[in-house]
Amino acid sequence: MEVKKIVLPESELPRQWYNIQADMPTPLEPVLHPGTGEPVGPDDLAPFFPMPLIEQEVSQERFIDIPEEILEKYLIWRPTPLYRAYGLEKHLDTPAKIYFKNEGVSPAGSHKPNTAIAQAYYNKISGTKKITTETGAGQWGSALAFCCSLFGIECKVFMVKISYDQKPYRRIMMETWGATCVPSPSTETESGRKILEKNPDSPGSLGIAISEAAEAAALDEDTKYSLGSVLNHVLLHQTVNGLECQKQMAIAGDYPDMIIGCVGGGSNFAGLCLPFVRDKINGKDIDILGVEPASCPTMTRGPFAYDFGDTVQKLPLAPMYTLGHSFVPAPIHAGGLRYHGMSPIVSQLVLDNLIRAESVQQLETFQAGITFARTEGFISAPETDHAIAMVIREAIKAKEEGKEKVILFNWSGHGLVDMAAYESYLSGQLSDHALPEEEIRRALEDIAPLPKPKQYRPGTIS
Ligand SMILES: Cc1ncc(COP(=O)(O)O)c(C=O)c1O
Repeated sequence: MEVKKIVLPESELPRQWYNIQADMPTPLEPVLHPGTGEPVGPDDLAPFFPMPLIEQEVSQERFIDIPEEILEKYLIWRPTPLYRAYGLEKHLDTPAKIYFKNEGVSPAGSHKPNTAIAQAYYNKISGTKKITTETGAGQWGSALAFCCSLFGIECKVFMVKISYDQKPYRRIMMETWGATCVPSPSTETESGRKILEKNPDSPGSLGIAISEAAEAAALDEDTKYSLGSVLNHVLLHQTVNGLECQKQMAIAGDYPDMIIGCVGGGSNFAGLCLPFVRDKINGKDIDILGVEPASCPTMTRGPFAYDFGDTVQKLPLAPMYTLGHSFVPAPIHAGGLRYHGMSPIVSQLVLDNLIRAESVQQLETFQAGITFARTEGFISAPETDHAIAMVIREAIKAKEEGKEKVILFNWSGHGLVDMAAYESYLSGQLSDHALPEEEIRRALEDIAPLPKPKQYRPGTIS
């Protein structure tokens, strides 16, 4: 019988995270203060984050030790299994070997607790009493709620309204772990009220929810803010997955020709691929591909520019691919991919041709999710379906080219709380979203007056 899954013993859990900043061919351009336009210092970030996380954000050390208290909690779900997708391969009749890393086995059902547990821990040892955050589909909010409960920290989640309405079970998960969850835009913050004044029916966006959560944290000394993606320290924590995966691929006796992941802010994709990007920098030939929704095509159509991380311009200006902080993506079901910006690390690696990006439409992603469920059994999060859609395209291409390609992808989460989305798809109610250039152009007007990074790229919007 062929080996279906490779499960590392607990003793093989990585003891360090990998920091790509030590190896990037082009260093990140600085993050700028939203008011002064000058590079931010630790004091500017202190109202939002505890000092150990600020230090990790700028660290240039290649490997950073994972504290014992975090390792202990990681063992609840880590190491996660690496699967060979024999069922999908057979169905596609492809010579490609397809592997996927199952991050859906965590209590919250996705990769998100890899950083939530670290952020809760560093906040705890820094004296934080309460953490505020945003969530799209609810995966991040539920992950942080779970991890705050393990460390006895209060947690408040601003959930993008469209998802709050579509996914009540995620809210109930957060409440089960002791957190409070409110729909965003809310009337609780000045940022939320400002949006509601302009558009009382706003479906919300991650950018708006981030503004609300950051504002709530900045106003209270004992409260800090936590972001579930985008930032350097978040990607750092996620590398525990890629480091595990390198050991598992070695046991399988294979090495990926291609790595695929879905991208919202970039954290699950980066968590899997960054240790392999290091190999690529050192000479390995790997195609590393991030997949985004066609309705939120940050890297495939947006410029590389300075932009605010949030809609109401409370957070610093980051050098990244962006569709403009006022861009509100169509209400697709992959709520976790509806973010206007992109991690500066992932953005820089795209500029340096170490990573590339493509986009897919919603219907293709759900079709891929159904194919995966019927061949591999697991029902994927709508976000994860974006990666699967691209894996299927690539496996078919490998067949056409007669190549025995090794494809590795991150199965970032299960979709068991997303069944309403599958129901909409199965009953023919979902559609693709044609995104008019005009809409992106309008949102990009807002960033025109902002400072430009040295490596500014205009994007494909004319
Ligand atoms: C299951 C799942 N995959 C992917 C993402 C996208 O986020 P990121 O790009 O940070 O991994 C999310 C975000 O909510 C998610 O819940």
